[in-house]
Amino acid sequence: MARVELDQVNKVYRSRGQAVHAVKDFSLTVEDGSFVALLGPSGCGKTSTLRMIVGLEDISSGEIRFDDKVVNKLSPEARNVAMAFETYALYPNFTVAENLGFPLEVKGIDAARRDDEIARIAKLLRIEAILGQRPGELSGGQQQRVSLGRALIREPAAFILDEVMSHLDAHLKFQMLFELKRVHQSIGKTTVYVTHDQMEALALADKVAVMTDGVLQQYGTRDDLYHRPANRFVADFIGEPPTNFMMGDVVSAGDALHLRALASGLVFHIDDDRTRALQQRGIQQVLIGIRPQNLRPANGQERQNVERVDVELLINEYLGEQSILTCANGETPLRALAPPDVAYRRGERIGLHYEKRDVMLFDPESEVFLG
Ligand SMILES: Nc1ncnc2c1ncn2[C@@H]1O[C@H](COP(=O)(O)OP(=O)(O)OP(=O)(O)O)[C@@H](O)[C@H]1O
Ligand SMILES: [Mg+2]
Repeated sequence: MARVELDQVNKVYRSRGQAVHAVKDFSLTVEDGSFVALLGPSGCGKTSTLRMIVGLEDISSGEIRFDDKVVNKLSPEARNVAMAFETYALYPNFTVAENLGFPLEVKGIDAARRDDEIARIAKLLRIEAILGQRPGELSGGQQQRVSLGRALIREPAAFILDEVMSHLDAHLKFQMLFELKRVHQSIGKTTVYVTHDQMEALALADKVAVMTDGVLQQYGTRDDLYHRPANRFVADFIGEPPTNFMMGDVVSAGDALHLRALASGLVFHIDDDRTRALQQRGIQQVLIGIRPQNLRPANGQERQNVERVDVELLINEYLGEQSILTCANGETPLRALAPPDVAYRRGERIGLHYEKRDVMLFDPESEVFLG
Protein backbone atom coordinates (compact mmCIF):
# COMPACT_ATOMS: atom_id res chain seq x y z
CA MET A 1 0.00 0.00 0.00
CA ALA A 2 1.18 3.50 -0.55
CA ARG A 3 0.41 7.13 -0.20
CA VAL A 4 1.39 8.82 -3.47
CA GLU A 5 2.57 12.43 -3.33
CA LEU A 6 3.42 14.80 -6.15
CA ASP A 7 5.25 17.90 -5.04
CA GLN A 8 5.65 20.81 -7.47
CA VAL A 9 6.09 18.41 -10.38
CA ASN A 10 6.85 19.78 -13.83
CA LYS A 11 7.15 18.09 -17.19
CA VAL A 12 8.75 19.88 -20.10
CA TYR A 13 9.08 17.94 -23.36
CA ARG A 14 11.76 19.07 -25.76
CA SER A 15 11.50 17.98 -29.32
CA ARG A 16 13.04 19.59 -32.41
CA GLY A 17 14.00 22.75 -30.58
CA GLN A 18 10.47 23.22 -29.21
CA ALA A 19 9.62 23.05 -25.51
CA VAL A 20 6.16 21.87 -24.42
CA HIS A 21 5.40 22.57 -20.75
CA ALA A 22 2.89 19.72 -20.31
CA VAL A 23 2.60 19.62 -16.49
CA LYS A 24 3.06 22.75 -14.38
CA ASP A 25 3.88 22.88 -10.65
CA PHE A 26 1.57 19.97 -9.99
CA SER A 27 1.10 19.06 -6.31
CA LEU A 28 -1.28 16.35 -5.14
CA THR A 29 -1.53 13.82 -2.33
CA VAL A 30 -3.30 10.53 -2.98
CA GLU A 31 -4.02 9.01 0.42
CA ASP A 32 -3.19 5.38 1.02
CA GLY A 33 -6.00 3.14 -0.19
CA SER A 34 -8.00 5.93 -1.80
CA PHE A 35 -9.35 6.12 -5.33
CA VAL A 36 -8.47 9.35 -7.11
CA ALA A 37 -9.48 10.36 -10.62
CA LEU A 38 -7.43 12.73 -12.73
CA LEU A 39 -9.92 14.49 -14.97
CA GLY A 40 -9.41 17.03 -17.72
CA PRO A 41 -9.80 17.72 -21.43
CA SER A 42 -7.65 16.06 -24.09
CA GLY A 43 -4.04 17.24 -24.07
CA CYS A 44 -4.17 18.74 -20.56
CA GLY A 45 -1.31 16.56 -19.26
CA LYS A 46 -3.05 13.58 -17.62
CA THR A 47 -1.05 10.82 -19.28
CA SER A 48 2.19 12.76 -18.78
CA THR A 49 1.43 12.97 -15.06
CA LEU A 50 0.70 9.23 -14.85
CA ARG A 51 3.81 8.28 -16.78
CA MET A 52 5.89 10.28 -14.30
CA ILE A 53 4.19 8.52 -11.37
CA VAL A 54 4.91 5.06 -12.76
CA GLY A 55 8.42 5.95 -13.93
CA LEU A 56 7.98 5.76 -17.69
CA GLU A 57 8.82 9.43 -18.11
CA ASP A 58 11.52 11.60 -16.50
CA ILE A 59 10.39 14.33 -14.13
CA SER A 60 11.69 17.73 -15.30
CA SER A 61 11.52 19.18 -11.77
CA GLY A 62 9.81 18.50 -8.46
CA GLU A 63 9.46 15.35 -6.42
CA ILE A 64 7.29 12.22 -6.44
CA ARG A 65 7.12 10.25 -3.18
CA PHE A 66 5.59 6.91 -2.27
CA ASP A 67 5.11 6.81 1.51
CA ASP A 68 7.65 9.62 2.01
CA LYS A 69 10.26 7.87 -0.10
CA VAL A 70 11.41 9.85 -3.14
CA VAL A 71 10.99 7.68 -6.25
CA ASN A 72 12.15 10.17 -8.91
CA LYS A 73 15.06 8.01 -9.99
CA LEU A 74 13.53 4.57 -9.46
CA SER A 75 12.70 2.31 -12.40
CA PRO A 76 9.05 1.34 -12.98
CA GLU A 77 9.78 -2.16 -11.62
CA ALA A 78 11.30 -0.79 -8.43
CA ARG A 79 8.28 1.47 -7.87
CA ASN A 80 6.02 -1.61 -7.89
CA VAL A 81 2.97 0.03 -9.43
CA ALA A 82 0.62 -1.79 -11.78
CA MET A 83 -0.59 0.00 -14.85
CA ALA A 84 -3.31 -0.54 -17.36
CA PHE A 85 -3.50 1.76 -20.34
CA GLU A 86 -6.08 2.42 -22.99
CA THR A 87 -4.07 0.42 -25.52
CA TYR A 88 -2.70 -2.25 -23.20
CA ALA A 89 -2.17 -5.15 -25.59
CA LEU A 90 -2.63 -8.72 -24.42
CA TYR A 91 -0.30 -11.48 -25.62
CA PRO A 92 -2.27 -12.85 -28.59
CA ASN A 93 -0.89 -16.41 -28.45
CA PHE A 94 -1.51 -16.80 -24.73
CA THR A 95 -4.84 -17.86 -23.29
CA VAL A 96 -6.58 -15.56 -20.86
CA ALA A 97 -5.23 -17.65 -17.96
CA GLU A 98 -1.69 -17.44 -19.35
CA ASN A 99 -2.02 -13.69 -19.85
CA LEU A 100 -3.14 -13.30 -16.25
CA GLY A 101 -0.42 -15.59 -14.92
CA PHE A 102 2.43 -14.01 -16.85
CA PRO A 103 3.34 -11.25 -14.33
CA LEU A 104 3.51 -13.95 -11.63
CA GLU A 105 5.63 -16.24 -13.77
CA VAL A 106 8.09 -13.38 -14.30
CA LYS A 107 8.28 -13.03 -10.53
CA GLY A 108 9.16 -16.76 -10.26
CA ILE A 109 5.96 -17.82 -8.53
CA ASP A 110 5.25 -21.55 -8.88
CA ALA A 111 2.46 -22.96 -11.01
CA ALA A 112 0.18 -24.06 -8.18
CA ARG A 113 0.12 -20.61 -6.57
CA ARG A 114 -0.26 -18.97 -9.96
CA ASP A 115 -3.38 -21.05 -10.60
CA ASP A 116 -4.84 -19.99 -7.27
CA GLU A 117 -4.22 -16.34 -8.03
CA ILE A 118 -5.61 -16.62 -11.55
CA ALA A 119 -8.76 -18.21 -10.15
CA ARG A 120 -9.11 -15.46 -7.53
CA ILE A 121 -8.74 -12.61 -10.05
CA ALA A 122 -10.97 -14.33 -12.61
CA LYS A 123 -13.70 -14.60 -10.01
CA LEU A 124 -13.29 -10.97 -9.01
CA LEU A 125 -13.64 -9.78 -12.60
CA ARG A 126 -16.14 -12.46 -13.58
CA ILE A 127 -14.06 -13.88 -16.40
CA GLU A 128 -13.88 -17.50 -15.19
CA ALA A 129 -15.72 -18.75 -18.26
CA ILE A 130 -13.18 -17.38 -20.74
CA LEU A 131 -9.91 -18.45 -19.08
CA GLY A 132 -9.12 -20.91 -21.88
CA GLN A 133 -9.76 -18.49 -24.74
CA ARG A 134 -7.25 -16.35 -26.59
CA PRO A 135 -7.56 -12.53 -26.83
CA GLY A 136 -8.61 -12.69 -30.50
CA GLU A 137 -11.72 -14.60 -29.47
CA LEU A 138 -12.83 -12.04 -26.90
CA SER A 139 -15.04 -8.96 -27.08
CA GLY A 140 -13.51 -5.56 -26.37
CA GLY A 141 -15.00 -5.47 -22.91
CA GLN A 142 -13.65 -8.92 -22.07
CA GLN A 143 -10.19 -7.89 -23.27
CA GLN A 144 -10.36 -4.76 -21.12
CA ARG A 145 -11.23 -6.91 -18.12
CA VAL A 146 -8.37 -9.30 -18.78
CA SER A 147 -5.88 -6.45 -19.05
CA LEU A 148 -7.25 -4.99 -15.84
CA GLY A 149 -6.91 -8.44 -14.27
CA ARG A 150 -3.30 -8.63 -15.34
CA ALA A 151 -2.68 -5.36 -13.51
CA LEU A 152 -4.63 -6.45 -10.43
CA ILE A 153 -2.89 -9.80 -10.07
CA ARG A 154 0.45 -8.20 -9.30
CA GLU A 155 -0.21 -7.10 -5.70
CA PRO A 156 1.38 -3.75 -6.41
CA ALA A 157 1.74 -0.72 -4.16
CA ALA A 158 -0.68 1.23 -6.34
CA PHE A 159 -2.79 0.98 -9.48
CA ILE A 160 -2.43 3.51 -12.25
CA LEU A 161 -5.13 3.29 -14.89
CA ASP A 162 -5.25 5.47 -17.99
CA GLU A 163 -8.51 5.70 -19.97
CA VAL A 164 -9.08 1.96 -19.54
CA MET A 165 -12.72 2.20 -20.59
CA SER A 166 -12.52 4.63 -23.48
CA HIS A 167 -13.39 1.99 -26.09
CA LEU A 168 -16.36 0.51 -24.31
CA ASP A 169 -19.96 1.20 -25.21
CA ALA A 170 -22.10 2.91 -22.59
CA HIS A 171 -23.66 -0.31 -21.32
CA LEU A 172 -20.37 -2.15 -20.91
CA LYS A 173 -18.76 0.93 -19.39
CA PHE A 174 -21.43 1.03 -16.76
CA GLN A 175 -20.78 -2.63 -15.96
CA MET A 176 -17.01 -2.09 -15.79
CA LEU A 177 -17.38 0.96 -13.57
CA PHE A 178 -19.30 -1.20 -11.17
CA GLU A 179 -16.70 -4.01 -11.32
CA LEU A 180 -13.84 -1.61 -10.76
CA LYS A 181 -15.54 0.02 -7.82
CA ARG A 182 -16.24 -3.39 -6.35
CA VAL A 183 -12.64 -4.50 -6.85
CA HIS A 184 -11.37 -1.37 -5.18
CA GLN A 185 -13.72 -1.82 -2.27
CA SER A 186 -12.59 -5.39 -1.75
CA ILE A 187 -8.82 -4.89 -2.07
CA GLY A 188 -8.59 -1.21 -1.06
CA LYS A 189 -5.41 -0.31 -2.95
CA THR A 190 -4.36 3.22 -3.81
CA THR A 191 -5.66 3.89 -7.31
CA VAL A 192 -5.11 6.78 -9.71
CA TYR A 193 -7.55 6.67 -12.59
CA VAL A 194 -7.22 8.95 -15.60
CA THR A 195 -10.19 9.94 -17.70
CA HIS A 196 -11.63 12.83 -19.67
CA ASP A 197 -15.13 11.59 -18.85
CA GLN A 198 -16.60 13.29 -15.79
CA MET A 199 -19.24 10.59 -15.38
CA GLU A 200 -16.51 7.96 -14.87
CA ALA A 201 -14.52 10.19 -12.54
CA LEU A 202 -17.46 11.14 -10.37
CA ALA A 203 -18.83 7.60 -10.25
CA LEU A 204 -15.58 5.99 -9.16
CA ALA A 205 -13.39 8.33 -7.22
CA ASP A 206 -13.26 9.43 -3.59
CA LYS A 207 -11.62 12.61 -4.82
CA VAL A 208 -11.22 14.11 -8.26
CA ALA A 209 -8.30 16.24 -9.46
CA VAL A 210 -9.45 18.52 -12.28
CA MET A 211 -6.72 19.83 -14.54
CA THR A 212 -6.47 21.90 -17.68
CA ASP A 213 -3.48 23.12 -19.64
CA GLY A 214 -1.05 21.29 -17.34
CA VAL A 215 -2.35 23.01 -14.20
CA LEU A 216 -4.32 21.47 -11.34
CA GLN A 217 -7.50 23.52 -10.94
CA GLN A 218 -9.14 21.79 -8.00
CA TYR A 219 -8.77 18.64 -5.94
CA GLY A 220 -11.94 17.72 -4.14
CA THR A 221 -14.94 15.50 -3.62
CA ARG A 222 -17.85 15.39 -6.00
CA ASP A 223 -19.69 17.74 -3.67
CA ASP A 224 -16.82 20.26 -3.65
CA LEU A 225 -16.60 20.29 -7.43
CA TYR A 226 -20.31 20.62 -7.87
CA HIS A 227 -21.18 23.13 -5.18
CA ARG A 228 -17.89 24.93 -4.57
CA PRO A 229 -16.07 24.90 -7.92
CA ALA A 230 -12.71 26.64 -7.58
CA ASN A 231 -13.26 28.68 -10.71
CA ARG A 232 -15.25 29.06 -13.89
CA PHE A 233 -13.35 26.26 -15.66
CA VAL A 234 -14.36 23.68 -13.05
CA ALA A 235 -17.96 24.94 -12.89
CA ASP A 236 -18.14 24.66 -16.67
CA PHE A 237 -16.38 21.29 -16.98
CA ILE A 238 -18.28 19.50 -14.21
CA GLY A 239 -21.99 18.98 -14.75
CA GLU A 240 -24.02 18.18 -17.81
CA PRO A 241 -25.36 20.26 -19.50
CA PRO A 242 -22.73 22.87 -18.56
CA THR A 243 -23.35 25.75 -16.18
CA ASN A 244 -24.98 28.95 -17.53
CA PHE A 245 -22.70 31.95 -17.16
CA MET A 246 -23.75 35.59 -17.33
CA MET A 247 -21.88 38.79 -16.63
CA GLY A 248 -23.91 40.83 -14.16
CA ASP A 249 -24.04 44.19 -12.38
CA VAL A 250 -24.50 44.32 -8.64
CA VAL A 251 -27.49 46.67 -8.14
CA SER A 252 -28.66 48.09 -4.79
CA ALA A 253 -32.36 47.98 -3.98
CA GLY A 254 -32.81 49.36 -0.47
CA ASP A 255 -31.04 46.99 1.90
CA ALA A 256 -30.92 44.21 -0.63
CA LEU A 257 -28.75 43.67 -3.65
CA HIS A 258 -29.77 42.26 -7.00
CA LEU A 259 -27.63 40.86 -9.72
CA ARG A 260 -28.69 42.08 -13.13
CA ALA A 261 -27.40 40.03 -16.05
CA LEU A 262 -26.02 42.50 -18.58
CA ALA A 263 -27.05 40.86 -21.83
CA SER A 264 -30.53 39.68 -20.84
CA GLY A 265 -31.57 42.12 -18.10
CA LEU A 266 -32.64 39.10 -16.00
CA VAL A 267 -32.47 39.78 -12.28
CA PHE A 268 -31.08 37.17 -9.86
CA HIS A 269 -31.25 37.20 -6.08
CA ILE A 270 -28.73 35.82 -3.62
CA ASP A 271 -28.87 35.11 0.10
CA ASP A 272 -28.14 37.73 2.76
CA ASP A 273 -24.70 36.46 3.78
CA ARG A 274 -23.33 36.76 0.32
CA THR A 275 -25.11 40.08 -0.20
CA ARG A 276 -23.25 41.48 2.83
CA ALA A 277 -19.96 40.03 1.61
CA LEU A 278 -20.39 41.72 -1.78
CA GLN A 279 -21.30 45.02 -0.09
CA GLN A 280 -18.33 44.87 2.26
CA ARG A 281 -15.93 44.19 -0.55
CA GLY A 282 -17.50 46.89 -2.74
CA ILE A 283 -17.87 44.47 -5.64
CA GLN A 284 -19.83 45.98 -8.53
CA GLN A 285 -19.66 43.35 -11.17
CA VAL A 286 -19.75 39.55 -10.97
CA LEU A 287 -19.82 36.58 -13.25
CA ILE A 288 -23.06 34.76 -12.39
CA GLY A 289 -23.19 30.98 -12.78
CA ILE A 290 -26.25 28.80 -12.45
CA ARG A 291 -26.55 25.11 -13.30
CA PRO A 292 -29.36 23.96 -15.62
CA GLN A 293 -30.27 21.40 -12.92
CA ASN A 294 -31.01 24.29 -10.60
CA LEU A 295 -33.32 26.09 -13.01
CA ARG A 296 -36.71 24.43 -13.20
CA PRO A 297 -39.86 25.50 -15.00
CA ALA A 298 -42.65 26.54 -12.67
CA ASN A 299 -45.20 23.81 -11.97
CA GLY A 300 -47.30 25.49 -9.29
CA GLN A 301 -45.89 23.27 -6.52
CA GLU A 302 -42.84 25.33 -5.67
CA ARG A 303 -41.71 25.67 -2.12
CA GLN A 304 -41.79 29.13 -0.69
CA ASN A 305 -38.62 31.18 -1.01
CA VAL A 306 -37.93 30.10 -4.55
CA GLU A 307 -37.01 32.87 -6.96
CA ARG A 308 -38.03 33.19 -10.54
CA VAL A 309 -36.92 34.57 -13.90
CA ASP A 310 -39.19 34.83 -16.93
CA VAL A 311 -37.85 33.78 -20.30
CA GLU A 312 -38.89 32.73 -23.76
CA LEU A 313 -38.51 29.08 -24.78
CA LEU A 314 -36.35 28.61 -27.87
CA ILE A 315 -35.67 24.87 -28.00
CA ASN A 316 -37.08 21.88 -26.13
CA GLU A 317 -34.75 18.85 -26.43
CA TYR A 318 -36.42 15.72 -25.21
CA LEU A 319 -33.83 13.29 -23.81
CA GLY A 320 -35.97 10.53 -22.37
CA GLU A 321 -35.68 11.07 -18.65
CA GLN A 322 -35.70 14.81 -18.90
CA SER A 323 -35.80 17.66 -21.35
CA ILE A 324 -33.25 20.39 -21.83
CA LEU A 325 -34.95 23.72 -22.35
CA THR A 326 -32.94 26.40 -24.09
CA CYS A 327 -34.48 29.73 -23.22
CA ALA A 328 -33.61 33.35 -23.67
CA ASN A 329 -34.46 36.84 -22.71
CA GLY A 330 -32.71 38.83 -25.39
CA GLU A 331 -29.51 37.37 -26.77
CA THR A 332 -27.88 35.03 -24.22
CA PRO A 333 -29.34 31.54 -24.06
CA LEU A 334 -30.07 30.01 -20.67
CA ARG A 335 -30.43 26.25 -20.23
CA ALA A 336 -32.83 24.62 -17.79
CA LEU A 337 -33.90 21.05 -17.09
CA ALA A 338 -37.53 19.98 -17.10
CA PRO A 339 -39.42 16.75 -16.48
CA PRO A 340 -40.17 15.05 -19.81
CA ASP A 341 -43.92 15.07 -19.43
CA VAL A 342 -44.30 18.82 -19.79
CA ALA A 343 -45.21 19.99 -23.25
CA TYR A 344 -43.87 23.47 -23.94
CA ARG A 345 -44.13 25.23 -27.23
CA ARG A 346 -41.48 27.22 -28.96
CA GLY A 347 -41.88 30.93 -28.36
CA GLU A 348 -43.90 30.40 -25.18
CA ARG A 349 -42.93 32.50 -22.16
CA ILE A 350 -42.15 30.43 -19.12
CA GLY A 351 -41.04 31.07 -15.56
CA LEU A 352 -37.88 29.33 -14.33
CA HIS A 353 -37.46 28.79 -10.63
CA TYR A 354 -34.23 28.66 -8.69
CA GLU A 355 -33.03 28.89 -5.12
CA LYS A 356 -30.82 31.74 -4.00
CA ARG A 357 -28.10 29.45 -2.73
CA ASP A 358 -27.74 27.89 -6.19
CA VAL A 359 -26.59 31.14 -7.78
CA MET A 360 -22.78 30.91 -7.96
CA LEU A 361 -20.61 34.01 -8.12
CA PHE A 362 -17.22 34.38 -9.77
CA ASP A 363 -14.76 37.22 -10.12
CA PRO A 364 -15.28 38.62 -13.65
CA GLU A 365 -11.55 38.93 -14.30
CA SER A 366 -9.78 36.10 -12.50
CA GLU A 367 -12.89 33.86 -12.79
CA VAL A 368 -12.18 32.58 -9.27
CA PHE A 369 -15.17 31.38 -7.23
CA LEU A 370 -16.43 34.07 -4.83
CA GLY A 371 -19.17 32.08 -3.14
N1 LIG B 1 6.62 12.71 -25.97
C1 LIG B 1 6.14 13.95 -26.13
N2 LIG B 1 6.86 14.90 -26.73
C2 LIG B 1 6.39 16.16 -26.87
N3 LIG B 1 5.18 16.57 -26.43
C3 LIG B 1 4.42 15.67 -25.81
C4 LIG B 1 4.84 14.31 -25.62
N4 LIG B 1 3.86 13.63 -24.97
C5 LIG B 1 2.88 14.54 -24.75
N5 LIG B 1 3.20 15.75 -25.26
C6 LIG B 1 2.38 16.98 -25.18
O1 LIG B 1 2.10 17.23 -23.81
C7 LIG B 1 0.77 17.69 -23.65
C8 LIG B 1 0.03 16.78 -22.67
O2 LIG B 1 -0.11 15.49 -23.24
P1 LIG B 1 -0.79 14.28 -22.46
O3 LIG B 1 -0.66 13.07 -23.31
O4 LIG B 1 -0.21 14.22 -21.10
O5 LIG B 1 -2.30 14.75 -22.38
P2 LIG B 1 -3.61 13.97 -21.90
O6 LIG B 1 -4.27 14.83 -20.90
O7 LIG B 1 -3.28 12.59 -21.51
O8 LIG B 1 -4.52 13.96 -23.22
P3 LIG B 1 -5.55 12.84 -23.77
O9 LIG B 1 -6.82 13.00 -22.98
O10 LIG B 1 -5.76 13.24 -25.19
O11 LIG B 1 -4.92 11.49 -23.62
C9 LIG B 1 0.16 17.75 -25.04
O12 LIG B 1 0.28 19.07 -25.49
C10 LIG B 1 1.03 16.82 -25.84
O13 LIG B 1 1.09 17.21 -27.19
MG1 LIG C 1 -3.83 10.66 -22.23
